[in-house]
Amino acid sequence: MIDRSFSEERSAEVVADSFDSTPDPRLRTLLQSLVRHLHAFIKEVELTEAEWAAAINFLTATGQISDEVRQEFILLSDVLGVSMLVETINHRAGEATESTVLGPFHVVSSPERALGADIALDGKGEPCLVTGRVHDLAGQPVPAATIDVWQANDDGFYDVQQPGLQPERNLRGLFTADDDGAFWFRTIVPRYYPIPQDGPVGDLLRASGRHPFRPAHIHFLVTAPDFRSVTTHLFVADSAYIDSDAVFGVKQSLVRMFPTVDDPVTADKFGVTNPYRTVDFTIVLAPGALI
Ligand code: BEZ
Ligand code: FE
Repeated sequence: MIDRSFSEERSAEVVADSFDSTPDPRLRTLLQSLVRHLHAFIKEVELTEAEWAAAINFLTATGQISDEVRQEFILLSDVLGVSMLVETINHRAGEATESTVLGPFHVVSSPERALGADIALDGKGEPCLVTGRVHDLAGQPVPAATIDVWQANDDGFYDVQQPGLQPERNLRGLFTADDDGAFWFRTIVPRYYPIPQDGPVGDLLRASGRHPFRPAHIHFLVTAPDFRSVTTHLFVADSAYIDSDAVFGVKQSLVRMFPTVDDPVTADKFGVTNPYRTVDFTIVLAPGALI
């Protein structure tokens, strides 16, 4: 009779086999592969009991600090590069606009705003005009695409991190592209900022000597019927940390200069003070289902 009892040598095989009857074949694959990799990792590093207890405590603390607006597990996935890997595997872009991490701060819905609105409600930061258009792969406009944008304020915090301190829905807006697929709004030039460091993920970064900063960026989530939506950012080319994003989110196709433009006629048209900072973003959507 074959010995199927647990041993150091047979551990992965025995535990993986215990999931053989999982009715959902995909769930079976995920569980059995996870077990094999997890057991291989423990054997490779010869994990000690103290280290395993520390890992359990770390994950417990990660859950305990999370609530409706604080999602420490997403943050953990981000700093481990897991968010970016899942994103990249699932959104191979081809000619469409590349995606990047959603991040933990898309936790409230953005208010609908008219094209041209100013999303900076706290009066801080350097004003910036954002213009753009949404196209399909053939370069045809995608009218009525929705463009959801959010960013941190000039102090490096999202509105949901500072309730009562920042105006509600500061630096968030949901815009609808016009008949030519065009959109435009006013905001501030984003600044680099640290991801939250007051929880277990901050402890992890400190223990490993890693910095917590993300280069300056504006978030975009663009959707339109019959197209795959894209979750992405615009990064500021000359921002600090552009080459060492704490969450590995930078893709070269998403990096732009935010030049200063001296053009009184255009400034007047968009309601900005001349000269002004600006950035232009053509978003290309691939055909497909909404999400
Ligand atoms: C963000 O860009 O909002 C973000 C992304 C990942 C981790 C923390 C913040
Ligand atoms: Fe961000």
